[in-house]
Amino acid sequence: MEFFDVIKRRKSVRAFLDKEIPKDMEMKIKEAINLAPSAGDLQSYKVFVVKNESIKKRIADAAYGQMFVADAPLVLVFCADARRSSSKYGRRGMELYALQDATIAAAYAQLAATALGLSSVWVGAFDEDDVKEVIRTELRPVAIIPIGYAAKNPERTPRRSVEELFEEYL
Ligand SMILES: Cc1cc2nc3c(=O)[nH]c(=O)nc-3n(C[C@H](O)[C@H](O)[C@H](O)COP(=O)(O)O)c2cc1C
Repeated sequence: MEFFDVIKRRKSVRAFLDKEIPKDMEMKIKEAINLAPSAGDLQSYKVFVVKNESIKKRIADAAYGQMFVADAPLVLVFCADARRSSSKYGRRGMELYALQDATIAAAYAQLAATALGLSSVWVGAFDEDDVKEVIRTELRPVAIIPIGYAAKNPERTPRRSVEELFEEYL
């Protein structure tokens, strides 16, 4: 798929078919994630790959009952590794870069999934401590990305105008 078609095609889908994602597609998503830029090339994040039904349900519960998370065949939990970034960047690495590294990686995952004809949604509303407990980590969860085949085709949401969004200094 052409790059700008991928960008245009991506939209949040919150209903998934009960259909597995082929292994080679999953690998392509992982490889795309691994190509994301990161501060100092430290890749200060870790991605938890969840397919287990009961763990997916517990993650959906931790996301305040957003049960579509459990319906996706593949759930990626992106966690910031603050210590890793702070080793080089101190407080800025801990408070900002690690979060940005994880965030960019999650965005890459969404675009890669789209390019493969899959759908996803960014889930940011969750209880961090509950998610940490479910996936057994001390790292900070930043985004949950359920990925799968769309069971619905939602309307595209509107955007602000370009004039409003950008301020130009010419
Ligand atoms: C930081 C962040 C947090 C979000 N959290 C949630 C969420 O918890 N649940 C949900 O259904 N969608 C969530 N979304 C998805 C947004 O609602 C969605 O991206 C936005 O409405 C634009 O729609 P689009 O993705 O279809 O372009 C989140 C998106 C972002 C970037």
